[in-house]
Amino acid sequence: MKFIIANWKMHIPNIKSWQKKPNLNKDIRIIIAPPFPFLNEVKKNISWAELGAQDVFYKDFPNGGAFTGEVSASMLKYFGVKYVIIGHSERRKYGKETDEIINEKILLSLKKELQVILCIGEPLNIRLKGISATDNFLKNQLKIDLNKVTKNFQNNIFIAYEPIWAIGSGRTDSLNDITEVAGLVRKFLATKGLNKIKFLYGGSVSDSNVGEFLKSKEIDGVLVGSSSVDAKEFKKILNVVLKLK
Ligand code: PGA
Repeated sequence: MKFIIANWKMHIPNIKSWQKKPNLNKDIRIIIAPPFPFLNEVKKNISWAELGAQDVFYKDFPNGGAFTGEVSASMLKYFGVKYVIIGHSERRKYGKETDEIINEKILLSLKKELQVILCIGEPLNIRLKGISATDNFLKNQLKIDLNKVTKNFQNNIFIAYEPIWAIGSGRTDSLNDITEVAGLVRKFLATKGLNKIKFLYGGSVSDSNVGEFLKSKEIDGVLVGSSSVDAKEFKKILNVVLKLK
């Protein structure tokens, strides 16, 4: 089973162009994460994809609360959201999100029975120092992000490895490096008893490279940004995936 996740970021979607169901002859899961105001439209009009959100607030009270501008996990559930992206590098950078906040979001989302897509990834200066610096950087993120996450929840967590320098740059990581990182991440997670977490890659995924990534047994799916906004582009990706042996 492979997961193809569309992260539309802050783009205004042309919902009509997404309505037609592609010929899905394979065991793949397609998830679309639109900006919040479009959740309902995606749910109503795109029957062939599951619904994801790009973020969630780290507090949730039964009667709501005084948190201007925020959206709770309960609200996401109300709209039929099943998956939530947490800790994207753009949220870490522009929203000044810390690993501690990310951890709170994860614990709360798991409690609310959402599937968590946790994004981790190193900046270029770390990657240039080599694989052990990269490993340390990612471990430090994971240690805090997954603090107090118990193995009961491991089926509900995806780790999306997105090297920051590969996001929106047209420059992907090599399959070799990604699988090496996947191995290191899995090794670290195993020390916490988290053996079943799924591993995704994200960063300039397009129809020209998705086949190579998804052929690998180490990679359970992809998180697609720029190439997921336009329905035609995204369907090109799906076509490649559907043809994979
Ligand atoms: P990109 O974005 O595909 O445009 O590189 C991926 C992401 O940020 O999730």
